[in-house]
Amino acid sequence: MRAFLGIGLPADVRDAIASATEEVRGLHAPVAWTAPKNLHITLDFLGEISPERAALVERPMRVVASGIVPFSLTAEGGGAFPGTRNPRVFWVGFLEPLELVRQLQQNMGSALSGAGFPLEDRPFHPHITVGRTRGTLPPAWGERFVHALSGKRFGIVPVSSFTLFESRLGPGGAAYIPLCDFRLAGPGRRETREEKEP
Ligand code: 2AM
Repeated sequence: MRAFLGIGLPADVRDAIASATEEVRGLHAPVAWTAPKNLHITLDFLGEISPERAALVERPMRVVASGIVPFSLTAEGGGAFPGTRNPRVFWVGFLEPLELVRQLQQNMGSALSGAGFPLEDRPFHPHITVGRTRGTLPPAWGERFVHALSGKRFGIVPVSSFTLFESRLGPGGAAYIPLCDFRLAGPGRRETREEKEP
């Protein structure tokens, strides 16, 4: 099975993203837009693994979850990977501070590597993928997308757990099935400070 670790989003944030992207989605560019129910934050992509191997992540992930305090993220604005001029992935981003989500992803990577999973080879940029390019885009499409989302706030994502998901790819698109939740139970304070960051 294909599996990944990630953070699900509350319905109000998914709805806010869906309505903010409605106009650009309606322009029928060759972009595969993520179904609103599938919007999520990926922390670590495990790839194609056996169910036995997926079960092996549970114990180390419980340890990771026990070391991180629940926190929240503010979803705002958007961008494109690798850049707005040559967009392959369209995303919604988050305001700083992002220390706890970064710490979570880093601890996860170390624990997974200790359990024999390869380390993610791409740097971690917390984001919500909202679409993927599937052909040649009209000129300045990336800028158009970023402009449509600029300064828009999509709400707060309270992160009190993370989830092991199975990703099933089918003719009707991907279905993400939650397999196991890991409750954050670390000591310390919640992050509440907000600062604007690109
Ligand atoms: P993304 O959020 O950066 O798009 C489920 O398929 C999730 O796993 C996707 O949302 C994607 O993260 C991530 N993913 C899929 N294929 C991947 C790959 N080959 N390498 C790294 N991450 C991948």
